[in-house]
Amino acid sequence: MANLITSFRYICLGLLLYAHSMYVMAQWPRGGSTRFYDFKVQTMSVTKLCNTKEIVTINKMFPGPVVYAEEDDRVIIKVTNETPHNATIHWHGVRQMLSCWSDGPSYITQCPIQAGQTFTYEFTLVHQKGTLLWHAHVSWLRATVHGAIVIYPKAGVPYPFKYPYEEHTIILGEYWMRDVVQLEQAVVASGGGPPPADAFTINGHPGPNYNCSNNDVYKIDVVPGKTYLLRIISAALNMENFFAIANHKLTIVEADGEYTKPFTTDRVMLGPGQTLNVLVTADQKIGRYSMGMGPYMSARNIPFQNITSVAYFQYLGAIPNSVALPAPLPSFNDNLAVKTVMDGLKSLNPINVPKEIDTNLFITIGLNVQKCRSKNPQQNCQGTNGGVMAASMNNISFIRPNISVLQAYYKKINGYYTDDFPGVPLQFYDFVNGAPNTPPNNTQSLNGTRIKVLEYGARVQVILQDTGTVSTENHPIHLHGYSFYVVGYGTGNYNPQTANFNLVDPPYMNVIGVPVGGWAAIRFTADNPGVWFMHCHLEIHLSWGLSTVFIVKNGQGALETLPHPPADLPRC
Ligand code: C2O
Repeated sequence: MANLITSFRYICLGLLLYAHSMYVMAQWPRGGSTRFYDFKVQTMSVTKLCNTKEIVTINKMFPGPVVYAEEDDRVIIKVTNETPHNATIHWHGVRQMLSCWSDGPSYITQCPIQAGQTFTYEFTLVHQKGTLLWHAHVSWLRATVHGAIVIYPKAGVPYPFKYPYEEHTIILGEYWMRDVVQLEQAVVASGGGPPPADAFTINGHPGPNYNCSNNDVYKIDVVPGKTYLLRIISAALNMENFFAIANHKLTIVEADGEYTKPFTTDRVMLGPGQTLNVLVTADQKIGRYSMGMGPYMSARNIPFQNITSVAYFQYLGAIPNSVALPAPLPSFNDNLAVKTVMDGLKSLNPINVPKEIDTNLFITIGLNVQKCRSKNPQQNCQGTNGGVMAASMNNISFIRPNISVLQAYYKKINGYYTDDFPGVPLQFYDFVNGAPNTPPNNTQSLNGTRIKVLEYGARVQVILQDTGTVSTENHPIHLHGYSFYVVGYGTGNYNPQTANFNLVDPPYMNVIGVPVGGWAAIRFTADNPGVWFMHCHLEIHLSWGLSTVFIVKNGQGALETLPHPPADLPRC
């Protein structure tokens, strides 16, 4: 009943807001319904790996509640923070057309929702369908504050593949026994790298390979002969991961919420923030099969969790507790396995990739080591060669301001950022093999809150180039507010003379795993005004500054102009 009353209040609120935003909505798809969700940020005590601790959750669920909607629906989510921590929620992959205020990254589009406060996120899923995710965008809270967004095609519109018998959401995660907010602070203060997670998890369960976890296992019961759609989401923090099912093929049909040409493979790799929909047919002998999640670590000398998280793909009629065949995961450094999956991703539907480019950007991504400036080097300079670890884009480590960039921009408040993020690196050298690696060579970056302004409607190409400073590594780079066409990628330094571009059927994604020691080229049209974060989705790299911000200017008229901030936008 209480729920009913709350929903009713929201419906009234929704109608009011709808009337208010009619003009803006005029050209937008009609007929979508409005979905209301009530998210309470709450702590909950959990016992895993023989350890009991409080974790932060939404509605005391881990993973959190699924947000279901249909294409073109309006989604309204009231987030109430009942914890002592700061919180925000980011709707990862949602384009947020004209709703930048609801994007969620802390200090980029909003200040955090403080203890006891409420903020209502509102957006329309304009022409979007498929699997996305939501997650906290403050500190490392994402470790436990995450969940799926499932957007169905409009009623009566079929999937472009055979209808699955059932659908399941599979969320890959990393679990720490320590408090993750304290952990981030401790790691950043140490100047060194993070400890590996205590476990990988599938839908929150580590599975039988971990201590005390024989019964902490996720399981899907399957009917022999039927085909299942698995919506696989990576909500991991600091790792990229392989996923495979023993004896079963995976047919990828969607990546990052866009249909792909069907591509069949034995295993997939997902970086944090990536989603893949795969079809799996239960066409093997009746039995119990492992679904396995293992590490993909492309950098050198980094400790990582190496125990496979296992869940069961179990046929009806299988002998209970029968031994499960292990999943065929590639070895942790199998770069070719990653490339093979990437090569298989092609857009299914006709695409709209910009052919001419107005704004060409070349951005290096990588790690840095800053000189130790602490009086207490033992405590604060535990990075490579006694330095402090950092990360950067075009050798600038992004410092988040203490009000949001969007507020500073919208209200024209000076002093929080500068608009001089360089469109090319400050120095050109052999980024992959000739990178300065060890002192006395200079491995330092500059600090700054430097952003790049884009004209409304500009057709943008960004070359993302991995560097070898400290170590080359596959970086999952995510852009807020847009999906982009991945028109090319390769190993080594980007060379426009030899680079091969696919302008025919490139995949349309919101995270690109830039190949280790390589580059990727992405294209998009800057048709969504606002302030949009671009960053490495490995949380430790984000903490270290591997990010920048695009400000996309307003165009003409209401449909190309960022609306006013909502009245309940959290105060700083
Ligand atoms: Cu999924 Cu800025 O993140």
